[in-house]
This record gives sequence, C-alpha cells and structure tokens, in this order.
Amino acid sequence: MRRQHFTQLIGTLAAAALVGLPTLAFAQITGSAHDLSGGALSGGEICNVCHTPHNADATVTDAPLWDHEVTATVAFTVYSSTTLDATVGQPSGVSKLCLSCHDGTVAVDAFGGAGGTTLIGAIGTGSGDFGIDLSNDHPISFTYNTALATADGELFDPSTAASGITGTIDEDMLFSGNMECASCHDVHNAAGNTNLLLIDNAGSDLCLTCHDK
Ligand code: HEC
Ligand code: HEC
Ligand code: HEC
Ligand code: HEC
Repeated sequence: MRRQHFTQLIGTLAAAALVGLPTLAFAQITGSAHDLSGGALSGGEICNVCHTPHNADATVTDAPLWDHEVTATVAFTVYSSTTLDATVGQPSGVSKLCLSCHDGTVAVDAFGGAGGTTLIGAIGTGSGDFGIDLSNDHPISFTYNTALATADGELFDPSTAASGITGTIDEDMLFSGNMECASCHDVHNAAGNTNLLLIDNAGSDLCLTCHDK
C-alpha cells in the first residue's frame, strides 16, 4: 500500500526548516494539471471532480470514495511482448480511475451524476488522451512480486528493495501488490515533480527504482 504523502510532507517541512525558508510552498493539487476547480460544474471545489464524501461509486476495487463516471465495459488492447514475464490483464483497480478520464471515452466533467461534455482530447494539446489501445504504454494492472522479479532476473524484489521514498517498492508504489498508473504517478502532485511523477525521472531514477539495469 502506498503511504508516502505524509512522510514526504514531513520531509518538505524538515528541508524548509533546515535552510530556514521564510515561507513554505509545498506541492499540491492547486495549480497542477489536476486542478479542475475552474470548470463550470466543480463549483470552485478541487476534490469533487474525483471524490465525494457520500454516495460514492464502489464498483471499482480500491476506489477511494469515487465520484467520477467510470469507463463502461470496453476491451482495452493491453501491452504484450515476447520478453514480458508478467501476466497483464484488462486494466483494473485504481488504473480504471485514471482511465475514466484518460481513455477519452468518458467526459472529464462527468462527475457527481452529471453527464459531462468535455473529453480529455479537447483539453490542452490532447496528449492526455491515451485511447483504449494501451499496447504502446508501460504495462499496468499486473502482480509485481518476488516471483516475477526472480523470473525476470532484472527487476528488484519489491518486497525488500527500497523505493527511495520511505519504505519498499511494495509499500510505497504498489496497490495490493499490483503495478498501476499510480505506481509511477501521484495524482495529487504531493512530490511536485514534472508530469505528476511519484519519483523525479532525471537520470531515469524512476525507471531504475524497479528495473535493475
Ligand atoms: C483528478 C482526480 C483526483 C483529484 C482532483 C483528487 N483525487 Fe484523491 N485520489 C484520486 C485517485 C485516482 C486516487 C487513488 C490512487 C492513489 O491513491 O494514488 C485517490 C486517492 C485519494 C485518497 C486515498 C489515498 C491517499 O492518497 O491517501 C485520499 C484520502 C484522497 N484521494 C483525497 C483527496 C482530496 C482531499 C482531494 C482534494 C484536495 C483529492 N483527493 C483530489 C484522484 C483524485
Ligand atoms: C477527472 C478526470 C481525471 C482523472 C480521474 C485523472 N486525470 Fe490525469 N489529467 C486530467 C486532465 C484534464 C489533465 C490535463 C490534460 C492536458 O492538459 O492535456 C490531466 C493530466 C495528467 C497528467 C499530465 C500532468 C502534467 O503536468 O502535464 C498526468 C501524468 C496524469 N494526468 C495522470 C493521471 C493518473 C495517473 C491518474 C490516476 C491515478 C489520473 N491522471 C486521473 C484529468 C484526469
Ligand atoms: C512505468 C511508469 C509509468 C506508468 C506505469 C504510467 N506512466 Fe504516465 N508517464 C510516465 C513518465 C515517465 C511520463 C513522462 C513523460 C514521458 O516520458 O512520456 C509519463 C507521462 C504521462 C502523461 C503526460 C503525457 C503527455 O504527453 O501529456 C500522462 C497523461 C500519463 N503519463 C498518464 C498515465 C496513465 C493514465 C497511466 C496508466 C494507464 C500511466 N500514465 C502509467 C510514467 C508512467
Ligand atoms: C514500480 C516499478 C516500475 C517502474 C517505476 C518502472 N517499471 Fe518498467 N516494468 C516493471 C515491471 C514489474 C515490468 C514487467 C516486466 C516483465 O514482466 O518482464 C515492467 C516492464 C517494462 C518494460 C517491458 C519489458 C518487456 O519485456 O516487454 C519496459 C520496456 C519497461 N518496463 C521500461 C520502463 C521504463 C523506461 C521505466 C521508467 C519510465 C519503467 N519501466 C518504470 C516495473 C516498473
């Protein structure tokens, strides 16, 4: 289970205290690509596009009080290759939540029971629209455990290898042992890295957290 937010915040506070910064501006959703509070339906709120305190959609496993319309049953094309050891199935868990905006089939403003009209392809450059063909994207929604690391031979063991955040890869990056979109991204921008990355990828540090290359 991921648990980096609080400790990252403490780290930021400690760093600010050490260098004696007069003001503290830690990373947050406000002003990030996921700050959709300017939209007509959000009423100026930030969280309600994705979450609701009541009457949440509990159909997706691990969905945290979900408020956004989720992709209807569609057949995604998933990543495959001759060297892949993992068994990659249809997107599941928290990745389904990302895809509910990023697969371009459901409007970004379809939340709180409203139908919505604006597809993600119409926002910015449109590059956030992945479509339902994920064969050219890093694989997601599969078990990443000791057995997979052993079978592959060039992956760190997620149950023992440190993520560099606070604990192991499993604790900080996986969801019930699964690799998901949010294994690489922080939807809430807590770390403040470009592309909402969980770990900054300068020097390929994100990739090298899991891949022993
Ligand atoms: C663009 C969509 C989006 C917005 C906006 C958003 N969240 Fe989330 N949130 C998610 C997704 C997806 C997850 C599950 C994946 C994860 O935990 O990384 C999640 C997980 C959570 C969790 C459980 C895991 C954790 O990180 O502690 C909490 C609590 C939470 N969100 C609170 C909030 C609050 C409070 C706000 C507003 C200040 C907010 N979120 C805004 C999408 C969003
Ligand atoms: C409510 C809809 C919604 C959900 C749910 C959502 N996103 Fe986004 N996301 C957006 C929008 C809108 C943008 C801005 C697109 C643009 O400007 O091209 C965006 C941008 C991004 C970006 C680019 C950030 C940048 O700084 O340019 C990343 C990365 C991203 N999302 C990842 C995720 C991940 C991972 C999840 C799930 C954990 C997720 N998103 C869930 C709507 C959403
Ligand atoms: C293995 C790590 C990893 C996984 C898994 C991952 N991403 Fe990314 N993503 C990245 C990196 C690194 C970037 C930075 C830009 C690049 O290298 O293409 C990025 C960029 C993005 C962008 C910005 C692209 C753009 O051109 O606007 C979006 C949106 C995004 N990811 C969403 C997602 C979604 C949704 C998922 C799950 C379906 C996902 N990512 C899974 C690592 C990952
Ligand atoms: C949280 C862990 C994690 C991170 C971070 C991560 N990967 Fe992966 N990646 C994996 C796992 C696990 C597999 C599945 C390997 C297998 O089954 O052969 C994989 C698969 C791949 C594959 C496909 C291998 C094949 O045989 O087809 C490539 C290429 C790859 N990753 C590159 C990257 C790059 C580039 C980055 C950084 C942008 C990255 N990965 C970040 C865990 C990760």
